[in-house]
Amino acid sequence: MTQDRKKIGLPYLFKKVEEGEPISWLTCYDYPTAYLQEEAGVEMILVGDSLGMTMLGYDSTLPVTMNDMIRHTSAVRRGAPTAFLVGDMPYMTYQASTEDAIRNAGRFMAEANCDAIKLEGGAAMTPRIKGIVDAGIPAIGHLGLTPQSVASLGGFRVQGKDAALAKKIVDDAKALEEAGAFAILLELVPDRLCKIITERAENCIIMSLGSGPDAHGQLLIYHDMFGLYPKFKPRMAKVYGNAGEVIGNGLAQYVKEVKDTTFPAKENYFGMKDDEYNELLDMLD
Ligand code: KIV
Repeated sequence: MTQDRKKIGLPYLFKKVEEGEPISWLTCYDYPTAYLQEEAGVEMILVGDSLGMTMLGYDSTLPVTMNDMIRHTSAVRRGAPTAFLVGDMPYMTYQASTEDAIRNAGRFMAEANCDAIKLEGGAAMTPRIKGIVDAGIPAIGHLGLTPQSVASLGGFRVQGKDAALAKKIVDDAKALEEAGAFAILLELVPDRLCKIITERAENCIIMSLGSGPDAHGQLLIYHDMFGLYPKFKPRMAKVYGNAGEVIGNGLAQYVKEVKDTTFPAKENYFGMKDDEYNELLDMLD
């Protein structure tokens, strides 16, 4: 479908905002899925550090390294050459210093051919955003439920339900925009808070993950959409198909067919001509 699609860049994304057309964004961690997302016309792809949980089986995103991210992100780029590709800065690759942040953001651009990076945090992260943007790298902020700080947020829950915290998120969004973030992801904040932030954004694209319809676009976690993560499904995720169940049934069928010898059938293996076979037997004798 997207064979003729031109490479998506910032002008395309801002044009969509201007035209009032919501932007589609999904997580992705591997080549075959990236290929499918590109074919389906997904406009933005996030290689999230959620790959620590969805692909590597950790209980949180914290153990993910820059090398993990580069390996997966470059595979995604090979499958999705025209999508706007965002690399997610893993835990402790930007928190300690602006220099770390710039170097690691630079790795995403140079080694994985990304279009932008994303990092978590509010006003405290503005020096990081400014440093990265000044180095010529487009940056996306991430507010609300920020999984790298889940311990201090008190778990995976909606953020900004009370007015005081909601006001802080509004202020953080403005601070990130002023520091140069071209987009902000709002994860799991109330819909009316997301609407306020979107309306106040002047030169910043506001994206929603579980934060309602009023943002400039939507993000979903791919594994939640298709029943591919066995441990839990967040309430806000919409399931578009149960690939996990299809694969599980196929695997059980495979085991059964190996046991009852219905697999392999004739079409699943190759024969040998009689004369070659007989000659082989002679040679073995
Ligand atoms: O790592 C990730 O996939 C993310 C999403 C939860 C937004 O940061």
